[in-house]
Amino acid sequence: MAEIINGKEIAENILNNIKKEVENFDVKPTLAVIIVGNDPASKVYVKNKIKKSEFLGFNSILKELPEDIQKEELLDVIKNLNNDKNVNGILLQLPLPKGLDEKDFLDEISPIKDVDGFTTYNSGKLFKGEKPYSIACTPKGIIKLLETKNINLEGKVAVVVGRSNIVGKPVANLLLQKNATVIQAHSKTKNLPEILKLADIIISATGKEEFIKGDMVKEGAIIIDVGITRNKNGKLTGDVDFESVYNKVSYITPVPGGVGPMTIATLMENTLELYKLQKGIK
Ligand code: GUN
Repeated sequence: MAEIINGKEIAENILNNIKKEVENFDVKPTLAVIIVGNDPASKVYVKNKIKKSEFLGFNSILKELPEDIQKEELLDVIKNLNNDKNVNGILLQLPLPKGLDEKDFLDEISPIKDVDGFTTYNSGKLFKGEKPYSIACTPKGIIKLLETKNINLEGKVAVVVGRSNIVGKPVANLLLQKNATVIQAHSKTKNLPEILKLADIIISATGKEEFIKGDMVKEGAIIIDVGITRNKNGKLTGDVDFESVYNKVSYITPVPGGVGPMTIATLMENTLELYKLQKGIK
């Protein structure tokens, strides 16, 4: 029977520590969030990010921009936030609407204000094993979950399912830095069940509802489920079939209440870290 990793509780601890630290600052950290268009899931995520930053005593700026915004206008919004000395963190919510290519915008964010760690500077630093200003929130949150449980990754076989720039690629890099043996599986991988069977740790970020079943995982494996989809009954489900896996593995993250809360906690932590870097606070 597995230990359930309570991401909600671990995230709350992180947030409470940030809140306490921020109480001592006369000038509060400021997070700017840009959302373009009307994607319903993105709207919910952005609302939660703003709510959480206000709970912590941060200042927040929300830029809600129309779906049909011109490229130059969006570039101007980013440039103005880069130049605004009061703004410490800038987040451009993804995905962007059709017609706008994230590649044209992400690198316009100043790397020292890049709370998502998505700029080429910060992701390149991570890739080289050097210290970026910021690390992508979900991958950083996943490593924190494993660290909280004192899980040693050295020499372990970690199978990452998914190769997105937001989760799959950065988490694979972080696992490599922890000396795990990393296998990056993706939509074109053949014989995924056989590969999953090798894993001491599975990190799945596909959004394919409950496709990892108990018979695909090794006894005692550690399962980190990044997927979150609403099934036809309206219930939030992960990539992993919790019921069939639970009795076989050693640790598992629930959906909801596992990785999700960590993403927002690490976003707030990144905002605070960039604020301190910009102010020269140790
Ligand atoms: N869309 C889904 N996840 C994320 C994230 O972590 N950051 C941003 N900016 N957009 C996202």
